[in-house]
Order: sequence, then C-alpha cells, then structure tokens
Amino acid sequence: MTTTLAPAAPSADDVLGTSAARTRSAVLERQILEDPGRFRILTGDRPTGRLHLGHYFGTLHNRVRLQDLGVELFVIVADYQVLTDRDVADRLTEHVEELVLDHLAIGVDPERSTVFTHSAVPALNQLLLPFLSLVSVAELNRNPTVKDEIAHSRQSAVSGLMFTYPVHQAADILFCKANLVPVGQDQLPHLEVTRTVARRFNDRYGSGTAVFPEPDALLSEAPLLLGTDGTKMSKSRGNSIALAAGADETARLIKGAKTDSERHIAYDPAGRPEVSSLLLLAALCQGRTPEEVADDIGSAGAAALKRTVTESVNEYLAPIRSRRAEYARDRAYVLRILREGNERARAVADATLAEVRAAMNSRY
Ligand code: TRP
Repeated sequence: MTTTLAPAAPSADDVLGTSAARTRSAVLERQILEDPGRFRILTGDRPTGRLHLGHYFGTLHNRVRLQDLGVELFVIVADYQVLTDRDVADRLTEHVEELVLDHLAIGVDPERSTVFTHSAVPALNQLLLPFLSLVSVAELNRNPTVKDEIAHSRQSAVSGLMFTYPVHQAADILFCKANLVPVGQDQLPHLEVTRTVARRFNDRYGSGTAVFPEPDALLSEAPLLLGTDGTKMSKSRGNSIALAAGADETARLIKGAKTDSERHIAYDPAGRPEVSSLLLLAALCQGRTPEEVADDIGSAGAAALKRTVTESVNEYLAPIRSRRAEYARDRAYVLRILREGNERARAVADATLAEVRAAMNSRY
C-alpha cells in the first residue's frame, strides 16, 4: 500500500481509535473502487450458530459487495476461537456447515473466494508461536474487547486461549498476507495487535524487506439492529432473526417484537429504539430511508409497522433463502467447497510459513 494517512491522536472517549479508522476507511473505499486487485481481504466468524439479520446487514452483505468489486476474499470459519469462553464447541460440525451455507447463500462465490476453517490449516496455527513472542503480557492484558469478553465469559477461569486469541487472529490475517480486514468497532483492538505483530516481525526478522503487510481495518457503517426484545440482536440472546429462518417463523418473530404504545410511527432511534430498529430493518430491505418507511405507515400503528417489516424481510430474503435451501439439500457439495477452501488456505499458509522460517533462520 502506498498511501498512508497519519492517524489522529485518540481522544479519551475514542480509545478504540474509531474516528481515525473511519477516516482511513473512506480513503480505502476510494482506493478499492480504483484498483480492487491490490487488496486481499481476510474476515470471518466463530461457528456458534446460524447467522442472523444483524450479521447480514452489519458485515456479510459488505463481504459480497467487496468480492463483487473484484477484491480477493478469504473467509475464516474460526473453529478454534469458539473455545475462548466455553469448555466445548457445541454442535461444531453443524455450525461450521451452517456458516458455509450462509456464505454460499448470500453470494460468496467459491470460484473466486476461499472459505476455510482454522483447524484444517496447521501452518496458520504454527505462526501463533513466533507471533506470541512479539507481544508482551501487559499488551494482552490491556485489550478492551478481551476484557469485555472475560467479564461475560461462561467459564469460571480465563483460558490461555481467551487471553491470546487476538494474536491467533493476527495469524488468521497474516497467513495470507491480507491487507484489508472489514470489521466492526469491537474488533479494532485486535487489528491493532495484528498491525503490531506484523511491524515487529518485519523489524526483527525482515532484514530490510517486509514479510507481512500491516493490514488496514475497513470499518463498516454497520447499522445497529436490535433484537426482537429491544436489546442488541445476538445469537446467544435468542432475540435474532436467522438468515435461514422461514417466512412463517420470520412473521412470528416480528409479530412478537417489542414496540411501544404510541400509535404514530416515527423514526426516532434515541427516543423510540424498538420502533426505529424495525423501521431501519424494513428500510434496509427496501433500499429506502427509515423516515420514508415511517411516513408510509403514519398513524396506522405498530401492527401495520410489523406487517411492513415482515413483508420487506421476507421479500428481500426470498432469493437468499431459496439458494440456501438448495445448497442445504446437497451436503456433499457444501463439504467439498469447504475442503477445497481448506486446500487453498493450506497452500497459502505453507508458503508463508516457509518464508517465516527462512526469515527466522529455522530452515532445517
Ligand atoms: N473475532 C471474530 C468474531 O468473533 C472472528 C474472527 C476470527 C475474525 N479471526 C478473524 C475476524 C480474523 C476478522 C479477522 O467474530
């Protein structure tokens, strides 16, 4: 990457460097349009259940957009990362397959993009060891996202994996020398770890040439969708609408969604968060603004709002759901896509590890 932008000094209420990342992301968006071929993206998810509308409008949709602009895309199914805050990865095979299915359904094209799992790529995981030597325990201790996850962990003791997973995530990103990582705000501290690891590796072992790029965060303006209970939409809270949910299930979930008693429907995210989130959801599906959707409904009340939202969601998701159902009938195909992705990821990881071993004088 040739253009660099001096990051703004973070202010007290901007500890994650969000505003600097936002400014930088706007520059990157322009560069992507000009020359998508110079970017390689790595992004991914933990396989802990079916993806939902919050994921879709937050990040998944953006992955396909970038792929279709011509950026090379790697999607990691982070199966080891599931074990950060729980003892066993429950229904792992099923959840991994769900993630692959979700990606195929939304338009990730296995001809152009690589979908793979952590555990199938040994050379990626081996990078963790030299990378761990490049960060201090104090730095690991300071990571605000990890601190937050530890506070909400379902384990009585913090595992070593929880503590070190941001460095593992650096290996996820750097094994394929990705230079762009589309993330939400909570992942910015992890991306800083990745940048630090890349820089220190290059300084210590690079003998003048950079082995790793320092990847940029591409901060998506993710709309915050609330779940049906009015809190953040989340797999674990049972308040989400899965991409794979059927039309009837969707109608039932939206029907039960929390609203308020005011009859006139207006977009007011601060004052009326639940109604506004429903308006936003309908608007995202219709490609309009939430205000326009609200104007359509006017004083027809919450029931009319819910009908509009249900219709919009079901209409928008119909092609995605039918593609998903088609792929779901062919499990062998889904597994083949994953195996091919793993194969490709292994070849890339082997090449990077060979370079790393050469740089570290451990080629014997
Ligand atoms: N930490 C991410 C999450 O919880 C998943 C993830 C694993 C990831 N490795 C990654 C995201 C590398 C971006 C880049 O959703």
